[in-house]
Amino acid sequence: MPVDIHRDTTGQRADYTIDQNWDAYTAEEHAVWATLFQRQVRLLKDRVVPVFLDHVDGLAMAGDGIPDFRRLNDILHKATGWTVVAVPGLVPDATFFEHLANRRFPSTCFIRKPEELDYLEEPDTFHDVFGHVPLLLDPVFADYMQEYGKGGLKADGQGALKRLARLYWYTVEFGLTRTPDGLRIYGAGIASSAGETVFALEDRSPNRVAFDLERVMRTDYRIDDYQETYFVIPGFRSLMKATEADFTPIYARLDELADIPSGAVTDGDHVLNFGTGKYHRERQRQTA
Ligand code: PHE
Ligand code: CO
Repeated sequence: MPVDIHRDTTGQRADYTIDQNWDAYTAEEHAVWATLFQRQVRLLKDRVVPVFLDHVDGLAMAGDGIPDFRRLNDILHKATGWTVVAVPGLVPDATFFEHLANRRFPSTCFIRKPEELDYLEEPDTFHDVFGHVPLLLDPVFADYMQEYGKGGLKADGQGALKRLARLYWYTVEFGLTRTPDGLRIYGAGIASSAGETVFALEDRSPNRVAFDLERVMRTDYRIDDYQETYFVIPGFRSLMKATEADFTPIYARLDELADIPSGAVTDGDHVLNFGTGKYHRERQRQTA
């Protein structure tokens, strides 16, 4: 197999960005996007926060192929000052935070193979673009992502990345929110996964617990299976408010406390929905 140009690090700049090289996508790669896109749009209706699908439309993300980042950025940058930049894969923490703090979202530009539609070792461009970019068009969520980046640069110097990463995981990747019409998905790891889209809202197994900052920062997470616990926010404004305090004293305080296993429920939890915790059905490994 030749090297996938969309994972090639040859032309990589100091900030890890590369060109998306949109013209180099094959018809087969566009077709993988189309399949995933159409399936998710169908599944997410009435399951995702309504603004998410509005913004998928607003970004002119089409069902027929991988978006050209230049076209996405024309719209996104005008709306909230964010741009999507292409990277070949995962980037170092400090680089990732530096991009977010400057309203740049680093996105992979390779796409999974047709035989990997439900099986993914690491985030690809469908996860990064379809899952993450729509909410960058929401003014409040767009600010949250930038503040997270700034907080990351700070936490990096305080040995607190583990805590902060959990916040990202349980909000940006796997967050649920309340809406007048019931529980809805907003996390990109859920919104880009057909299996977890249904599981997160409808399966009896996971716990659904009201978001509490310190509880989240103490909680382990699983990277190789659906989540055992989801944290539910009342809305993006409330999430902003809950995270605006200086985390430095919080990190110090949490150092005295034990971690909480990902499937556990604690005394202080406001549980919306107790999971049965009995989800052991055989299935493929699936990540964000
Ligand atoms: N308030 C956090 C701090 O002082 C920064 C932050 C904001 C982190 C929003 C995440 C999300 O570190
Ligand atoms: Co992600």
